[in-house]
Parts: sequence; C-alpha cells; structure tokens
Amino acid sequence: MINVKPFPANFLWGGATAANQCEGAYDVDGRGLANVDVVPIGKDRFPIIAGKKKMFDFEEGYFYPAKEGIDMYHRYKEDIALFAEMGFKTYRLSIAWTRIFPKGDEGEPNEAGLAYYEDLFKECRKYGIEPLVTITHFDCPMHLIEAYGGWRNRKMVEFYERLCRTIFTRFKGLVKYWLTFNEINMILHAPFMGAGLYFEEGENETQVKYQAAHHELVASALATKIAHEIDPENKVGCMLAAGQYYPHTCHPADYWEAMQKDRENYFFIDVQARGSYPTYALKQLEREGVVIEMADGDAELLKEHTVDFISFSYYSSRVASADPAVNEQTAGNIFASIKNPYLDESEWGWQIDPLGLRITLNTIWDRYQKPMFIVENGLGAVDTPDETGYVEDDYRIGYLREHIKTMSQAIHEDGVELLGYTTWGCIDLVSAGTGEMKKRYGFIYVDRDNEGKGTLKRSKKKSFDWYKQVIASQGTELD
Ligand code: BG6
Repeated sequence: MINVKPFPANFLWGGATAANQCEGAYDVDGRGLANVDVVPIGKDRFPIIAGKKKMFDFEEGYFYPAKEGIDMYHRYKEDIALFAEMGFKTYRLSIAWTRIFPKGDEGEPNEAGLAYYEDLFKECRKYGIEPLVTITHFDCPMHLIEAYGGWRNRKMVEFYERLCRTIFTRFKGLVKYWLTFNEINMILHAPFMGAGLYFEEGENETQVKYQAAHHELVASALATKIAHEIDPENKVGCMLAAGQYYPHTCHPADYWEAMQKDRENYFFIDVQARGSYPTYALKQLEREGVVIEMADGDAELLKEHTVDFISFSYYSSRVASADPAVNEQTAGNIFASIKNPYLDESEWGWQIDPLGLRITLNTIWDRYQKPMFIVENGLGAVDTPDETGYVEDDYRIGYLREHIKTMSQAIHEDGVELLGYTTWGCIDLVSAGTGEMKKRYGFIYVDRDNEGKGTLKRSKKKSFDWYKQVIASQGTELD
C-alpha cells in the first residue's frame, strides 16, 4: 500500500478528450468541415499537420479517422455515465467550432450545435461533473482557412470573438472553466492543426507563425475579457504543451540551450499570464527579422486580461544540447527531443519522467504564481483485451501512479497551487499525432481499430476501478 497525503477536498479529478478525436459525426446536424477532419492516418499526416502538404478536403485513397472518431457524438450519455461511475469531478472536452459556426464567418450560430453541447453539459451536471471546456482544440473551420488563410489573418480574432460570445452567453451557469487554445505553443510545430496555416512556396514561415500567434494571443485575451464580463464566475486558462528542458550536460552552453528551448514554449504563457511580450522574445524576433503587426489597443488588451489559471499537458521532459554532434533523438508529443539516457520510454518512444512533472509544476509556479491545472497526462499504449473487452493495463496504472505521487509532492512538499488533474483520453480515442486508434490512453476500452473496424463497444479496463479508488480516496490509495 502506497500512502500519500490527501489531495485538497475540492481537487478536480477527471479525464480529458477533444471533439475531433472522439465525436465523429463530422457532417451531422449542420456541422461544417474542419482542418482536423482532413488529416488522414499514415505517412502524409505529419506533413499535413505541419502545413507542408496541402489537403483541404477528403481525397481518394486515404482513411480519415476523425470522420467517425469513437462516435461519442451519439454515445455521450453512456460515456459520461461511465466517467461518473469513476467519480469524475470534472470532464475536459472541447467544442467543435464547426458545430456552432459551420463555416466560421456566419452572423448567426447553428442552433443544433448549441443544443447538442447544452445537453452534454447538463448531462455532466446531472452527475455533479464540472465541465472544463477547451474552446479550440486543434480546430479551425476549413472555410476560414480557404477564404482567409487561417490565423495569419487578423479577421480570425473577430470570428473567434463571435464564437466566444455565443458560447459564453448560451452556456452561462453550465460552464465555468474555459481554456482558450489547446497547447498554444504547438503553432510552432503543427501549424495547420494549431492555427490552420498552410505555407505557400517561398513564404517566411517564422513570420507567418508569429503573426498568427499574435492573433491567437489577442483573441485569447479578448476571450478572457468577455468571459469575465458575461459571468464574473468564469475562470479562463491558457494551455501549454509543457515539459521542462534539461541540459544534456552541465556545460553552461547546454544549460543556455535548454533555457532558450524552454523560452520558445514559455513565450506564449509569458504573454497570457504576465500580459506582455517578454524582452527575450522581442529581441529574438528582431534578430530573425520578424515584424509583428499589432493593432491599436492590443498591448492594453494583453496587459489587462491575463488568464486566471495556467493549464498544461505533460507527457515527458525534454533534453537540449549545444553540441550538434549530440543528436540521438527520441519521439515526443509532436516535437522530438534529444534522448535522455536515464529514462524509460513508451511503445511510441515518449520518455517517461514522473519527477519531470514535479519539476515542471514548480517551474511554472515559480514563474507565474498562478493556480495550475494539469489537463493532460497519460500513457499511450497497445492494449490487448480479452474476449469481454477487459484489459489488464498495469503499465498504465503504474505510469499514472508515479505521476500522481509527484503531483502530491509538489502540492504538499513544495506548496504549488494545483486545481485539478484530467488524464488524457480517459476513454480510448484517435491519436492526434498519428491518427491511430491502437495508441490508447483510456480507462475505457473502445472496440475500434486503425482501419475503422470494430463495434465501438465500451468496456472497463483494470485502470477503471483503480482510478475510481484514487478519486474516492482523494489520491491516497494508489496501489
Ligand atoms: C496533446 C493533445 O498534444 O497530446 C492531444 O492536446 C493529443 O490532442 C495528446 O491526443 C496525445 O498525443 P497523441 O499524439 O498520442 O494523441
């Protein structure tokens, strides 16, 4: 029996999903086409999400897993009932923009889309589950990409504002916790997914990415402002793909390199949490010849409407080296890093570092002094179910247990303020990075494979009862 001190009584335990990875029903009830629909499984997926290969519609010869996802659109009641059975206090999900505004630039929203999410939030509330809503999780209407070029265009701020006003108004009293952009720093690594950016031949990609990032940062501040105006109870968070960089050696040049790499990611949160562009970023952009067009009032908006809390995903730490000869890479969440010889890795090569979570929590806390929320963490693994669908996923339990232990240490021994923890893919869903179904994170097994075959039946894994016990014991019973 491993004993840890109880987590705070109001700690928000739960799980997380994203619309495009689980809902399916891509053309139902008036939904429009989104960037995330047209990213197929297979070797072209990465060039497409990186904005290097153009795919603006479905093409022959490809399989698009988001079209059907795990059909949660039609099965959310069954799925939420299972989350409730585990004792979830919160459920993180995202809204599909194209259900609310199918093209993105309409004046009026699609009532069917609003009604759908209203029902879903009510279903959560029925069980006392607090919805935690990501407004955009790698999600952009295709029409906005084709007609406006995605987030490179300032007009996107206006369309996003309309979306926010609509949902904040309609879901007032049902939703209190909001995240503006999932993993906002992913715009640097997966710009088509993160910001609907496809690069034309000869275009200055760095310039386009940072201009688009500026628009997202302004939109995020505006969303925070409007959320507070519409309901002072609203809490708005930013969302970072986190994971501290370690220097490969104690050579000062390696430390400096690690610091630069960290800054690449923290830049976004520095703006969202502190309210202005940090000097290191301004200097860096100047060196690279990047000129960001800012509109009148942007600086004030960023300054006055910083986020209430900082949320992040954590799967692994990362390693940086100043020595180009040190280049043994390891896979990671979209972007690769130098391999850390001290760590084990998952079947997908993501390195496993529970202490890195404590380090990340402390670093973010030291940097911002704002409450934090871990909104993604988990192990993507191949599961082998028995004939009933049951999976003995001790590997997943082991991964989560070690991470929960270091979270507990960060709270009790370091004094960080942590609002909650939502494990990624609490029900098996489509992988964002690879499009696979066989990379599973869930407590609930879904009968579906990489080719889209299977009954979609849900079954509890061993980790289902384990997580139920973790929540019921306030994180004290982890064995
Ligand atoms: C994060 C995303 O990047 O990591 C999720 O916010 C994603 O959408 C998760 O699914 C895990 O990555 P993957 O590639 O294993 O699905």
